Amino acid sequence: MDSIIINGGVPLHGVIEVGGSKNDALAIIVAALLVPGETILHNVPHISDVVRLLDILRHLGARADFRDDGALLIDASRLTTSEAPQELVQQMRASFNLLGVLLSRFGTASVAMPGGCNIGARPVNFHIKGLEQLGATLQLDHGVYHGSVKRFTGTNLYLEFPSAGATQHLMSAACCARGVTVIENCAQEPEVVNFAHFLNSCGAQITGIGTSTIVVKGVDSLRPTEFNVLPDRLQAGTYILGAAITGGDVIVRNAVAEHSRPLLSKLAETGVEITTMSNGIRVRRTSRIHSTDIRTLPHPGFPTDLQQPFAAMLCLADGVSILTETVYESRFRYTTELQRMGADIRVEGSTAVITGVPQLTGAPVACTDLRGGAAVVVAGLAAHGETVVTELEHLDRGYEDLVRNLKNLGANIRRSNTDAVGRPIVV
Ligand code: EPU
Repeated sequence: MDSIIINGGVPLHGVIEVGGSKNDALAIIVAALLVPGETILHNVPHISDVVRLLDILRHLGARADFRDDGALLIDASRLTTSEAPQELVQQMRASFNLLGVLLSRFGTASVAMPGGCNIGARPVNFHIKGLEQLGATLQLDHGVYHGSVKRFTGTNLYLEFPSAGATQHLMSAACCARGVTVIENCAQEPEVVNFAHFLNSCGAQITGIGTSTIVVKGVDSLRPTEFNVLPDRLQAGTYILGAAITGGDVIVRNAVAEHSRPLLSKLAETGVEITTMSNGIRVRRTSRIHSTDIRTLPHPGFPTDLQQPFAAMLCLADGVSILTETVYESRFRYTTELQRMGADIRVEGSTAVITGVPQLTGAPVACTDLRGGAAVVVAGLAAHGETVVTELEHLDRGYEDLVRNLKNLGANIRRSNTDAVGRPIVV
């Protein structure tokens, strides 16, 4: 069994370069199947979710290979089936957007209900309703959606909640629809914005990008493009919180301050010094951590994905902090693991009350989900003694070279056995 072993208490120092965004890359890779040609993507992270998704693409007949220069080449000229492999699709959330994409390319598609982190019910009703409004006929049979459509037809769509995945899914489906689609109450996450720019660089006609109303004027087909995946604001946030909790001084290169505004604003309240640089963010802490209250919200509110590692830091704050989770109904499972390390956290429904303690102590802890894993690693960096983190398959879904990067910042950290994509670990 793989584990990460941390001897905490070392302030992080130095410069770290943040990699490509998981959530941006996954959405764009799925949408590359809309293009009957070669798509070239830069800055795609080497994480297990990407490895799995590329296997799905190959199963569908696409070519998907990393070139020697690190770029990912996807050739979707000749797709051979519209049936996505069920066992792979069920392991991640982003693969569900294959439904609209395959319907657009083939007129038929079969895609299983998705998986992903266990942080709440995560239904797909907005996706299904939107695709049906665009003209698809869909049927759920033994956990698999089977769909057909002659050609999507543009219409007015309204999302009950600004879902990132549903906004991306419906934009993809609308790209080559007949007529105009208007999507109201859209998500505005940076990954949703970049996704729309990707589609436009393929010849789609999308306006209203970055606002709550997106208008997609259907075109006959999309063309090949070369495009950059965003730097990962959630990875960046994790390193920023690692530096903050240890009282370190770190420059996170490539981190985009504009994408991390809600995090940086809350960090400033806790007494952490933030300097925005032209090509990154510097984070430094020299005083006690002050408590604060956080309410997660869709972007540009505080990101639910960083609620977890931020909570780890608040365990050492000089007062009581209240976290309210409004996006997912069970994103507090990791708090049990932090309690093993001496954290004082009480969870009641969608609220966690954290009373700061002077010190956390190392303990055996598990990753309950991807960002829950980030939370225990961040806590372990500051804890007194040895923390042994297990169930790393969650962390491997979204963090490339986590151990190596933290080690380069001075952390006393190592991983036993293999890395995110199964290579033997040499650090
Ligand atoms: N929702 C529905 N019905 C739907 C779709 C969503 O009720 O049809 C609900 C969800 O259950 C949730 C809320 O709407 O309560 C928001 O979900 P959203 O659709 O925005 O999330 P997602 O697209 O499934 C992506 C990221 C998540 C991130 C959220 C919010 C990917 C692969 N995942 O999920 O990332 O938390 O957006 O920004 O892009 C992570 O990286 O750790 C992660 C969980």
